[in-house]
Amino acid sequence: MSLLTVTPDTTGLAAGVRVAGWGTALPRRRVTNHDLARHLDTSDEWIVERSGIRERRWAGAGESTGPLSVAAAHDALQRAGVAPADLDIVVVATSTPEMPLPSTAALVAAELGATAGAFDVNAACAGFVYGLAAASALVSSGVARTALLVGADTMTSLVDPDDRATAVLFGDGAGAVVLTGDHGGGMAHLDRTPGLVASDLVGDPAGDDLLVVPAGGSARPASAATVADGDHFLRMDGREVFRRAVRAVEASIARTLARAGCTADDVALFVPHQANARIVDAVLARTGLPADRTSSTIDRFGNTSAGSIPIALAEAADAGTVAPGDLVLMCGFGAGLTVGTALWRWSTPTPFSRDDT
Ligand code: ACO
Repeated sequence: MSLLTVTPDTTGLAAGVRVAGWGTALPRRRVTNHDLARHLDTSDEWIVERSGIRERRWAGAGESTGPLSVAAAHDALQRAGVAPADLDIVVVATSTPEMPLPSTAALVAAELGATAGAFDVNAACAGFVYGLAAASALVSSGVARTALLVGADTMTSLVDPDDRATAVLFGDGAGAVVLTGDHGGGMAHLDRTPGLVASDLVGDPAGDDLLVVPAGGSARPASAATVADGDHFLRMDGREVFRRAVRAVEASIARTLARAGCTADDVALFVPHQANARIVDAVLARTGLPADRTSSTIDRFGNTSAGSIPIALAEAADAGTVAPGDLVLMCGFGAGLTVGTALWRWSTPTPFSRDDT
């Protein structure tokens, strides 16, 4: 059974929001395909050909979801010129929280020294897009003037290191953005208000059993038996996820562009979830989005789940690939199956001033 619902047309719901800063945090330990092939029945050739992944980062001591989120947040806050005390809301998108309670967002806010409201979003690998829709709506509606949004996962905490079907795909990492309210400065005269132009948050309930961690929740709390059975590990039907993801992502992108009255030609930067280079290639072929305007980190970081889109976005922003007024298309999919697409108008990340708000 799925609790997901299809959202109505959301064109223009949230506007006048800037990405004022961005940041990333990746664990120090680099694990190559050759490293994995030493203890798994796999090879660099198979992994590269089937997924495009060459290496990934694995979290060590002090690099769980909370600390990675805090490090990415510091980076983003510094770039935005926003002090932790100026944050009104902290959202962390993750399916590998620091612990069941409190939320990772509350722990991150506390570590930053912020008294902001805080909550987590779990939409698996689509989490950052869902978090962006939620956080930008809070800012554009005036509920919050500034928001910190982090996408972070340590998937190695869920992956069975002896399962070659999943162990080769996932990595750990975090990306963060600081969102601030825009008050018409600089962009309004272009009639190109920054922020969320259109979005599409949908589910494919027929795929709700394709990616699961069977135990450790309220239905089957962790016990010696669940651990002995390995039911705290991620189980995935990769082939079926692949098939459904390509179709669902294509349809979600088409709906989002149609709602905005845009085509693939209008997209300056495409930031897809980094799960598999072949999935991205198939989506590009079906949507007409160009490879040279697509951000890709899959070869170096693998699938970092909710961290994947903000990390790829930050890399593109650091490289100067996006300019004020550009349209950035982000699309994620993950367990549920959840699918989320956001079309975002980029703006100048002008320094934040509390007097502005
Ligand atoms: N090394 C070598 N062989 C392997 C490996 C491996 N690491 N893993 C699987 N194989 C074998 C299989 O056992 C199978 O062998 P068989 O033919 O003897 O049965 C063969 O390779 C082919 O397996 P397939 O699963 O059909 O391979 P496929 O081409 O589909 O690639 C992959 C597998 C990479 C998992 C792909 O299906 C995929 O990326 N799917 C999407 C997964 C995904 O995106 N998950 C994340 C969702 S986001 C979230 O919420 C976490």
